[in-house]
Amino acid sequence: MNKILSDTLTELEKTQKDFWNVSRATGNFLNMLIKIRNAKNVLEIGTSNGYSGLWMLDALKTTKGHLTTIEYYDKRQSIARNNFDKCGFAGMYTPILGSACDIIEGFDSDKKFDFVLIDANKREYVKNFELLKPHLLPNAILCADNVNSHREKVQTYLDAVISDEGFQTEILDLPAGLAISYKL
Ligand SMILES: C[S@@+](CC[C@H](N)C(=O)[O-])C[C@H]1O[C@@H](n2cnc3c(N)ncnc32)[C@H](O)[C@@H]1O
Repeated sequence: MNKILSDTLTELEKTQKDFWNVSRATGNFLNMLIKIRNAKNVLEIGTSNGYSGLWMLDALKTTKGHLTTIEYYDKRQSIARNNFDKCGFAGMYTPILGSACDIIEGFDSDKKFDFVLIDANKREYVKNFELLKPHLLPNAILCADNVNSHREKVQTYLDAVISDEGFQTEILDLPAGLAISYKL
């Protein structure tokens, strides 16, 4: 990891609560997973200021992949873009401004992802999942943050993904709780 990226991550950790970022441990884990999966088409739902995006883009440098990231708050998206560019990731990401469900519904049928992080409106996780299913490649990895910290709000999502025979799911005891699902 280059020094600008490492310093930026450390700086962003000072405002982690204001921007609802994933934990450092979760960021590092997502980075590892993308490399293990050799993921090339990553989708993030909930960009915020780009903290988790930076972790994922760092891994995508290794896999030569691309990040598509959705955020509905323009000021946060603009901060994220600055962070991405400052750390040398210009051209490696597509920021989309808008409401996640509307954006996913508008994806062409041939738009496919091999890795997804769901980390926006907790009550919409289950709808995100249903809309995303046709866009997940075989062997895709689907992660959802805050499944322990916001269990009541995400319970419908957990019920849906755990009972879905097309997916194998485990909840990891990372800070906030990360559900990881493997598309069979
Ligand atoms: C938990 S934060 C994302 C944190 C980010 N993944 C990180 O770790 O750095 C959730 C973000 O999703 C955005 N958001 C919430 N509901 C949304 C929706 N329906 N569509 C798009 N973005 C949404 C919020 O504005 C917020 O910036």
